[in-house]
Amino acid sequence: MQTLQMMKERWLKAIEASNDLSLLEQARIAAFGKQGEVTQEMKNLGTLAPEERKERGAALNQLRDDLMAAMETKRTQLKAQELLQRLASESLDVSLPVRPELKGTVHPLSQALFEMTEIFKSMGFSVAEGPHIEEDYYNFDALNIPAEHPARQEHDTFYMPSGKEGVKKVLRTHTSPVQIRTMLAQNPPLRIIAPGRVFRSDYDQTHTPTFHQVEGLMIGEGIHMGHLKHCMTEFFRRMFNLPNLPVRFRPSYFPFTEPSAEVDIGFSRSGENLVLGQGDDWLEILGCGMVHPDVLENCHIDPARFQGFAFGMGVERVAMLKYGILDLRSFYEADTRWLHRYGFSITEGLTGGGER
Ligand code: PHE
Repeated sequence: MQTLQMMKERWLKAIEASNDLSLLEQARIAAFGKQGEVTQEMKNLGTLAPEERKERGAALNQLRDDLMAAMETKRTQLKAQELLQRLASESLDVSLPVRPELKGTVHPLSQALFEMTEIFKSMGFSVAEGPHIEEDYYNFDALNIPAEHPARQEHDTFYMPSGKEGVKKVLRTHTSPVQIRTMLAQNPPLRIIAPGRVFRSDYDQTHTPTFHQVEGLMIGEGIHMGHLKHCMTEFFRRMFNLPNLPVRFRPSYFPFTEPSAEVDIGFSRSGENLVLGQGDDWLEILGCGMVHPDVLENCHIDPARFQGFAFGMGVERVAMLKYGILDLRSFYEADTRWLHRYGFSITEGLTGGGER
């Protein structure tokens, strides 16, 4: 009896000391396997006298039940432990940020168009649009540029095949035909901008075959050059966030405005960058003037009663100056690295002023 008690304690210790499931399994085999110690003891019962066998048999059965129960408890414990360890080592960190390259950006052109439109909207201008494939008449003739006019040569026009009706069409070389369409469709007073894509057959570091303009047109009674000047000065100072930006009007020529002017803004050079608002260099940024009486007449507006101004500027040029972009062609290369460098996030961009 004494030996069975000792044996039981020895096995309970062995079970307790088994630190993982495979050690516990080894202990089980050593006790209850074919050659196991407890199994051997069971077999030995047969060699005993009946009285002794009965007593020892009962004790051995008890020992076996106790050890098996202890093993079962230990097994449950070890399994729970193993599960906890796995949960700890396999856990996912859901707080890791997603890969940044999956985020798109607002193209600097869209951003610039948005900012420009916002400023003109606050000055009471609404947005008008016209087709990219434009009638030759609206792109040129109605704007006082007849067929043999030298200004046509400067436009590097893409001509479309003539249609059935014999109406000549071109890819519009500027947004000015939207002036004509607006004046033909609506009565003064008018105050519109026409942002959009234009086309010229030209390609180098400062010219691409497609680019963007924002056209402006204001027609009413008593509108004069002073209104134009204030409007342009105010626009550029707000667009570039420079309340003292020098803005200069220089006499120029366009067939559809009289008088005509080009607008320059003051800047200086620092390395390959332009610094706006200081120094004594001037950068040409926009063409404008008072709408030519002949153009008003072409649109059935009486020039004796109504006057107005018009302007047109390149969006890429404004965007390059504001955002520090050096090559015009990069706008159209769809290089994602460039887009991540110069693009805007949807939240910082299209909702506000686009400051960096
Ligand atoms: N359409 C002219 C251009 O593309 C710009 C302009 C617009 C000039 C309106 C005067 C008035 O160069």
